[in-house]
Amino acid sequence: MPKEKAVHDLEDLPGIGPTTATKLRAAGIDTLDKIAVASPHEIAEMTGISVEAAKKAVQIAQESTTIAFETGEQFYEKRKLIGKISTGSSDLNDLIGGGVETNGITETYGRFASGKTQLGFQLAVNVQLPKDKGGLGGNVLFIDTEGTFRPERIEQIAKAAGMDPKEVLANIAMVRVPTTEQQILTLERADSVIQEMNIKLIIIDSLTSLFRSEFIGRGALGERQQKLNQHIHRLQTLADKYGLAAYITNQVMDNPGIMFGDPTVPIGGNVIAHAATTRLYMRKSKEDKRIVRLVDSPNMPEGECVIKITPDGIKD
Ligand code: GTP
Ligand code: MG
Repeated sequence: MPKEKAVHDLEDLPGIGPTTATKLRAAGIDTLDKIAVASPHEIAEMTGISVEAAKKAVQIAQESTTIAFETGEQFYEKRKLIGKISTGSSDLNDLIGGGVETNGITETYGRFASGKTQLGFQLAVNVQLPKDKGGLGGNVLFIDTEGTFRPERIEQIAKAAGMDPKEVLANIAMVRVPTTEQQILTLERADSVIQEMNIKLIIIDSLTSLFRSEFIGRGALGERQQKLNQHIHRLQTLADKYGLAAYITNQVMDNPGIMFGDPTVPIGGNVIAHAATTRLYMRKSKEDKRIVRLVDSPNMPEGECVIKITPDGIKD
């Protein structure tokens, strides 16, 4: 039997020459995985090759793509390497299984002054602590879309934690983004800053506000959701690739369809609901108290706890 050539690229597939490959790439079908799940008819139509030739190419692409199976045990071993950032409140840590996890996205949603940003500040300080003190010994990329980043507040929280406030601030890469384009680009180009600064926490405060104000009306909703979807998947990719934690805040709206109970729902619909690993709903209580509800988690039961926003930061 003739030995088959190893397939690495589109051009390695039978019947796919440079011209056809260029047409496929232009149409967004730029990897073997994408060919493997494409329809031969679609490929034939796009490129002008015969359906038969396209079928063969798809078949070879399917045979040459590898799926990395893992046993549950191997996966469990990997899970043990997941880091956790303390929130400052032991009750909140317990609620979410020990702290804000790496390799995932933790979302808080809630009305204004519910404490979403304050929790972000606390995490930005705590992630810098050593592992045995509730941190990850890593630094922060803080993407501010609302102009609410406050270095003074970070200083205050850092001092209370017995850390050098100057150093803590120097370990935070802050980016103020005024448009969704810049917000998206910041993540697209984040690889180098993540590596250079040993970033272990990415905060986007808030994920949704710019999308909400730029894409107005029913006609824009599809495009908004599509962009938001890509953006949040990019965040998950970075979380996996670098073993970092992602913390996003989200605005809320009233769902008029809910007649009884709390009508507050997060912005972003299914796109964010599916992408966020852990979802927390924060609401104001008396004075400095805030109620945090765990709405969605892969491994913890739903529940609630009370935290306090104090001058020293988030406490029980
Ligand atoms: P939006 O961004 O407006 O949606 O709200 P948010 O959920 O981000 O609220 P944020 O985290 O900014 O919480 C604001 C609340 O935190 C304020 O109402 C204060 O009660 C409290 N807070 C803010 N700064 C301080 C501070 O320096 N000391 C204390 N004790 N509380 C503070
Ligand atoms: Mg805020």
